This record gives sequence, C-alpha cells and structure tokens, in this order.
Amino acid sequence: MIRSRLLCKDNDICYRVPVGNNAAKLSGTSAVCTLLCVAVSLFAIVGADDPYRFFNWNVTYGDIYPLGVRQRGILINGQFPGPDIHSVTNDNLIINVFNSLDEPFLLSWNGIQNRRNSFEDGVYGTTCPIPPGRNFTYILQVKDQIGSFYYFPSLGFHKAAGGFGGIRILSRPQIPVPFPDPDGDYTILVGDWYKSNHTALRAHLDRGKKLPFPDGILINGRGPNGYALTVEQADQPGLDYYIVVSSRFTTPILTTTGVLHYSNSAGRVSGPPPGGPTIQIDWSLNQARSIRTNLTASGPRPNPQGSYHYGMINTTRTIRLASSAGQVNGKQRYAVNSVSFVAPDTPLKLADYFKIQGVFRENSISDKPYGGGIYLDTSVLTVDYRAFVEIVFENNENIVQSWHLNGYSFFVVGMDGGQWTTNSRNQYNLRDAVARCTTQVYPKSWTAIYVPLDNVGMWNIRSEFWARQYLGQQLYLRVYTTSTSLRDEFPIPKNALLCGKASGRSTRPL
Ligand SMILES: *[C@@H]1O[C@H](CO)[C@@H](O)[C@H](O)[C@H]1NC(C)=O
Ligand SMILES: *[C@@H]1O[C@H](CO)[C@@H](O)[C@H](O)[C@H]1NC(C)=O
Ligand SMILES: *[C@@H]1O[C@H](CO)[C@@H](O)[C@H](O)[C@H]1NC(C)=O
Ligand SMILES: *[C@@H]1O[C@H](CO)[C@@H](O)[C@H](O)[C@H]1NC(C)=O
Ligand SMILES: *[C@@H]1O[C@H](CO)[C@@H](O)[C@H](O)[C@H]1NC(C)=O
Repeated sequence: MIRSRLLCKDNDICYRVPVGNNAAKLSGTSAVCTLLCVAVSLFAIVGADDPYRFFNWNVTYGDIYPLGVRQRGILINGQFPGPDIHSVTNDNLIINVFNSLDEPFLLSWNGIQNRRNSFEDGVYGTTCPIPPGRNFTYILQVKDQIGSFYYFPSLGFHKAAGGFGGIRILSRPQIPVPFPDPDGDYTILVGDWYKSNHTALRAHLDRGKKLPFPDGILINGRGPNGYALTVEQADQPGLDYYIVVSSRFTTPILTTTGVLHYSNSAGRVSGPPPGGPTIQIDWSLNQARSIRTNLTASGPRPNPQGSYHYGMINTTRTIRLASSAGQVNGKQRYAVNSVSFVAPDTPLKLADYFKIQGVFRENSISDKPYGGGIYLDTSVLTVDYRAFVEIVFENNENIVQSWHLNGYSFFVVGMDGGQWTTNSRNQYNLRDAVARCTTQVYPKSWTAIYVPLDNVGMWNIRSEFWARQYLGQQLYLRVYTTSTSLRDEFPIPKNALLCGKASGRSTRPL
C-alpha cells in the first residue's frame, strides 16, 4: 500500500490521487485538495525532550521552465519546489531562512497550528518580513498534529514564483494508525501556474486589474507528464498510468497529467487521459458531505474541550463571513463583509504585544455581512479565548471559494446551496465531520464550521485564491485573553525581527 498525498497551494479543486491497490483507476475520485489537510489533536503529555530538526535554507531567484518557457522562479537551496520537511508529531523544527532575494520575504506554514505561538506564523499580521540579505530562524513545534501540510511564501505574490514545499508530520511510533505501514510515501504539490513572473503578476494586481486565467497546472513544479513517480507493481498490469489533475467549476477547464510508473512497466502512457468528474454542484456537495471520520477505526482524534464530541458542545458565538468582489477607487478589490483588508505598517501581533496604539482597531469588521459597498480597512475581529464558535462562509458569487484559517483545525459541519439561515443548522453533521484547516464553498452556497478557539494569538482567515487574498479577501481573528500565563501563550521569540512601529523595541533578554 502506498499512501497518497495531495497538497494544493491555491484555491484549485483537484483530484485525490489514489495510489496502490487501485492504481489503474487514477482518473476516479475527485475531491477538494484541502481534504488531506487533516490535523488531529493527540493531547499527549509532551516532554521537554521532543526531538529537534534543523534546516538551513537559502532563498534565491533562479531560472525555471515549468511550462516550457524560461521564467524567474524562487528556489530554496536551489530547488523548485523547495525541499520537503519530514517530521514526527511534536518535533521542534528550527528553520534558518536566508533571504537572498531583493525583496522582503516571509514563509508561512499552511495547516501548522503554531500552538500558543502565532509569532512564528509567518504572515504579515504576525511576523516582520525578513529584509533582503538577512536571515531569520523560525522555531516551530508541530504539536499534536499528524498529516500533510505545506509551506509557502506569504508576501508580495512570491507564491506565484515558487518558494513552497511539502511538510509531512508522521504519527509517533507509539500512536497506532488504522492502516498498515505504507511501502512508500510521496508528496504531490498541485497548483495552477502562470508563465509570467511574480513581479509582472503583482504589478498587474497593484494596477487594480483582475488576473487573467492561469496558463496551466503544475504537479510538483512540472508541466504535462513532467512528473513521474515510480512504484513496485501492485495488482494491475505492469504499465504506466496517468495521474490526472483538472480544475472544476472553471471556464475553460484546465487539465494536466503526471505519470504513475510501475518499476517493471512494459510501456509508456499513451492515448487521451480519462475525463474529469462532473461539474454539478449537487453531486459535489453530496460527495463532500460523504467524507467523514471513521469513528470505529482506531487512531488519534481531535478532542475539543476535552469532550471528543464536537457536536455536544454548545456554540457561544456565530460569525458569518460573506465574500464579495468590486472596485474601490477604480481598482479591483475583494472583501469580507464589505471590508477589503489592507496590511498595516506593523504586524498586528506585535502591536498587541507591545501595546502600540493606532495600528488597528478592534472589531474593524462586522461579524455578519454588512450589506454596504466595499471599503478598505485593517480588519481584525476579536473573539474570546476558549469560545466555541460557529463560522458560516457565505458565497453569493458564481465561483467556488476556498477559505483557510491559520492556527486551528475546524469541523466542517455543513454545506449547501442557497442562503444560510438558522434553520440550516438542522442539517449539520454533529457526529463524524472531518477536522481540517481549509474548506471549499461552492458557488451560490454556504459552508459552516465549528472551531474551538483554544489557541491564543492573531490568526489569519483568508481566501486561498491568491489574487483574492492579495487584494483584500482576508482578515485576522484575534483570539484574546488578558492572561499572560505561559500556559496560554508563549512570549515573543527572542530573535523576533522588529519592524514598523515596533522598531527599536526589545524582545526579551537572550
Ligand atoms: C545563497 O545563495 C547565493 C547564490 O548562490 C549565494 O551567493 C549566497 O552566498 C548563499 N547564501 C548562503 C547564506 O548560503
Ligand atoms: C542568522 O544565521 C546565523 C547562522 O548563520 C544565526 O547564528 C543567527 O541566529 C541567525 N539570525 C536569526 C535572526 O535567526
Ligand atoms: C518579469 O516579467 C516582465 C514582463 O514580462 C519582464 O519585463 C521582466 O524583465 C521580468 N523580470 C525578470 C527578473 O525576469
Ligand atoms: C471503519 O474502520 C473499521 C476498523 O478499521 C473498519 O472495519 C471499517 O470498514 C471502517 N468503515 C469504513 C466505512 O471505512
Ligand atoms: C447546551 O445548551 C442547552 C440549552 O441551553 C442546555 O440545556 C445544555 O445543558 C447545554 N449543554 C452543555 C454541554 O453545556
């Protein structure tokens, strides 16, 4: 058996790649990329001796040719995509990042919860950019997590040029998982791609234009049939098989292929790849709802408020977030509850930590759709530490949306077409929903999640559709407590870079 992994860096809808026993049916199942972004909470007692893993990364520009034309990419230690991080639950990751670009740079860790430690989250609301020619060492712990995640550059549309890679967190050997040990383990990063470099794309957005349609889809940084993975023969004839990835709910539909190569293969892939699954929304909703936690299988489980039963906890607050697109001052913007996010000059987390006034206003975004036109602001929504909230993502637009929350994994309790109402709660799955950190919202539909807010910090909620994120479809959830106990939040890292209005402050003695 070979474990399949699928990581998508954008909003793209893509296929799950079943490998192993049903290798011949590769065109089969479709799912939203973020499904494997599953994080589970083990709540084991962690000793101070959790292992350390050290990484030294040099971020540079370099020529890449993913769609056959030369373009300037962002490499990590000369690689595109960047190196995989292999780790085990509770490992400490010490990642020293040298920024050899000519622009400020930051890495963020999609799906890594950075518990009590949003300082290391690597988005502009939490962490100062690494200036050109400087380095910064991230100190992360992959606490209580298992799964497949990825890192990516969060600033300046760098993500369109590279700088991303996979993160694996394996279960600790003493925690049983409900399947035999895999024979192999592959990272597959899938995303859409432009032949233009990131500075050209960024300039286009800065001028207030929508991005054109992408030029293609990459699998592990390669174009059509450019990526192949080799496996021992399973139970199918010794041949090569297509790995097919295509977009859903887009016009046109983009498709690309990779190759699953049997080591004893007698021939190359040939002929047209099989077509993609339906683009019917009802079918997709049903499929999404059918993906559930197997409650009778052994294995680690999320444990909100110590109950193991998220459906039996009363929610204490409802937050409704509606996306929209429109123009502000003649320029394209995207918004949440009418607010189009603009980054402040100082990371919000540092403003909070040093109690610097004038960086953001609390509750500068409403917790339900406002109904008015789009305006610019630094949107921050304060929520109580330990609240158990229901968040409803409302999509009145005609495209699929993809929402991500940093710092947490949440339960996707419901989704359906049309407008959400309180009656929609009657159809929630309060038993065996899956916990994850990104969810899709189908066109003209809603998706509801439950989140136990047990991780203090400043946490980004954003569209994973990167142009939308760049032009304002994001906000910060300020999970706040007046407690200054280390049990609730770590102090600022000693090596934290300080910028904006936090310049000249001191972190803490070394
Ligand atoms: C990073 O790579 C560049 C280009 O190869 C090189 O000039 C620079 O010395 C490297 N920096 C580090 C810290 O390795
Ligand atoms: C930069 O890298 C050096 C090692 O080359 C390390 O000693 C130093 O702590 C790093 N700086 C930061 C801010 O992480
Ligand atoms: C980026 O693309 C623009 C537009 O094609 C081009 O003018 C520029 O030279 C490119 N920059 C680099 C560094 O390749
Ligand atoms: C759930 O897990 C149990 C135990 O591993 C297994 O027997 C059962 O087939 C699984 N159910 C489904 C629907 O996969
Ligand atoms: C949830 O709320 C209901 C109705 O207010 C109440 O009866 C019940 O005890 C609450 N459950 C918990 C676990 O607090």
